[in-house]
Amino acid sequence: MMRNKIGVPVCGDDFFDRKDKTAQIRHLLNQGNNVLLLAPRRVGKTSLMRRLQELENEHGLKSIFVDVSDCADERAFVKELYKELGKIDKSGGIFNVLQKNPAVNALKSLKKVEGYGFAIEFNGNEAEDWQKAAELLYDCLDKLSGKHLFMVDEVPVFTLRLSKLDAGAQRVADFLHWFRKLRQNRENIQWIAAGSIGLDTVTARLKLGGAINDFAIVKLGAFSDEVAGEFIVKLAESHKIHLKPDTVKHIVAKIGWPMPYYLQLVFSELFNLFNESGKAPDVAAVDKSYENLLSPSNKGYFDHWIQRLTDELGKPDDLYALELLDIAAKDPKGVLCSNFDMALDGKINDADKRNEKTQYLLDILENDGYLVNTEGRFAFRSPLLRDFWLRRRAK
Ligand SMILES: Nc1ncnc2c1ncn2[C@@H]1O[C@H](COP(=O)(O)OP(=O)(O)OP(=O)(O)O)[C@@H](O)[C@H]1O
Ligand SMILES: [Mg+2]
Repeated sequence: MMRNKIGVPVCGDDFFDRKDKTAQIRHLLNQGNNVLLLAPRRVGKTSLMRRLQELENEHGLKSIFVDVSDCADERAFVKELYKELGKIDKSGGIFNVLQKNPAVNALKSLKKVEGYGFAIEFNGNEAEDWQKAAELLYDCLDKLSGKHLFMVDEVPVFTLRLSKLDAGAQRVADFLHWFRKLRQNRENIQWIAAGSIGLDTVTARLKLGGAINDFAIVKLGAFSDEVAGEFIVKLAESHKIHLKPDTVKHIVAKIGWPMPYYLQLVFSELFNLFNESGKAPDVAAVDKSYENLLSPSNKGYFDHWIQRLTDELGKPDDLYALELLDIAAKDPKGVLCSNFDMALDGKINDADKRNEKTQYLLDILENDGYLVNTEGRFAFRSPLLRDFWLRRRAK
């Protein structure tokens, strides 16, 4: 039975396919690599990591999962790692390391917790807190016995946030070098870091490529049309709906870029229509579902594409990015790179700086799944998102 889950990461029976990616990542891990999983927003990174966690647990590998998207600074990042380590330190090896180390005074409290390892609380706000606690992590990880998989979700968002703080570039450099050292020379711990805005874009901009070059990069995309069709059929069967092959094909064609999330959304609308009419959905029902999805009451499903720009780029870059996207939305085949220059005309006076900013933002928008660059033309990657954009945004 597969449920029609919208928004929250899926696992177990609700997780469909991705067999090639799980095999690729498991192979890379078996070969002793760390993996950087990059994909546009909402493609299914977190679900895939959760799935890998299920598979690895079945094979006896212990794993921890942390989402660092809400971490305000390095200290919060380190704290998340400690929190998860506390849960798996059943033998107390890490607790002992922490207890004996004088640097632990930098922490507010450290206590053993019945049932699992330890709980840790950090002190005030001092910047040095994180450095002490971060240094200490090297010793802690050395004490971890058995093989472990550490998964860190949303690393690029965190890094980008760090880069915007005071002395941001230096802080990103220090953080990434510390994080790299944490991954080095520990055969028993492997890492998967994931995120959407390319960490490679961020590090290239700050000339820090070396700090992540131990990662094997895996990119995740939409489903193939074939897998998308099978997914829809499976969802429909689980809901006791029979869909004809031409209806399934039409759903996949209409979405254009069949991310599982969009397939789930269209299916949910289709299911509503089925409930109202009692009739097996046909091609016309698919068109109606698509329209319903774009109605104002459903804008929450797409608004995050706008909101994320502000969260990740900050001002004024978010507004510049919106301008670029408004231009790109005008033509389904996309717009030539040179046409974007006018978007920032009057906003950034220096032509070189304007050009540089345009390139930087187009790069991010491409990495993040908003746009696709085909022979110099930037077009919306998702026809569904473009339709949303035209109705909500374009002037
Ligand atoms: N393999 C899958 N099978 C079924 N549905 C999936 C699958 N992967 C993703 N989805 C659908 O896509 C939605 C988003 O998935 P997920 O949260 O894993 O993506 P993400 O890339 O981590 O998103 P974000 O960038 O917002 O963190 C899920 O709620 C689910 O509806
Ligand atoms: Mg996610």
